[in-house]
Amino acid sequence: MTRSVKLLLAGAASAVVFIGCGENGPAPKKPLDTAMAMALGDSISAQAQQVLLKNVSAAMQAGGPEHAVAFCNTRAVPLTDSVAALFDVDVQRLSDRNRNPDNGIRLPQDRAAWERFAGDKSAFVQQDAEGTVWYYKPITVGMPTCLKCHGGAEDIAEGTRAALAEKYPRDRATGYQQGDLRGMWKIGLRPKP
Ligand code: HEC
Repeated sequence: MTRSVKLLLAGAASAVVFIGCGENGPAPKKPLDTAMAMALGDSISAQAQQVLLKNVSAAMQAGGPEHAVAFCNTRAVPLTDSVAALFDVDVQRLSDRNRNPDNGIRLPQDRAAWERFAGDKSAFVQQDAEGTVWYYKPITVGMPTCLKCHGGAEDIAEGTRAALAEKYPRDRATGYQQGDLRGMWKIGLRPKP
């Protein structure tokens, strides 16, 4: 991870602490500071996206999409986790047609977010009963590169298809077009007590 990313993340981390600032004494549930949580979610998702994109592009250049599939297979989750580890946060990418079996939409809360994005594509935050603030943001197929691994049969090279079939026998993440909703960021922010 680059230094600037680390610095930005450190900046955002202090914002987490700031969310937690309040009166002394126990306060089980902090009120939701929507603007702060949105800014933090935007920042973390943008950083995580940038780290993933940079690494996927480098892997594509080094060995083409086939190599990059292997890279995503082993590195996508550790990379998002490494971003998450800098905060007291969960960072996930979920989809209704997921490639990684762990990235499916299961919780009612996630399903509601997904349904909301079918109509309104703007990110939002909400707070649960335990006080955790959940940030959701749609991920669209924003560039032609995505189609090399998530597009239709005509977009995905033979070797890539083979690599995907081997690593993800139950892959559901193909057949997308430019601009389609591909997934969503889900980031859990826990204000410090
Ligand atoms: C080199 C192939 C490749 C490219 C290019 C690629 N992806 Fe993926 N994508 C993958 C793989 C492999 C996974 C599964 C990663 C894992 O196992 O966690 C994945 C997972 C995802 C997920 C998580 C949900 C799921 O299906 O598991 C999202 C969202 C996603 N990609 C969006 C994108 C977007 C948007 C782009 C373009 C900016 C893109 N991908 C480009 C290979 C690729």
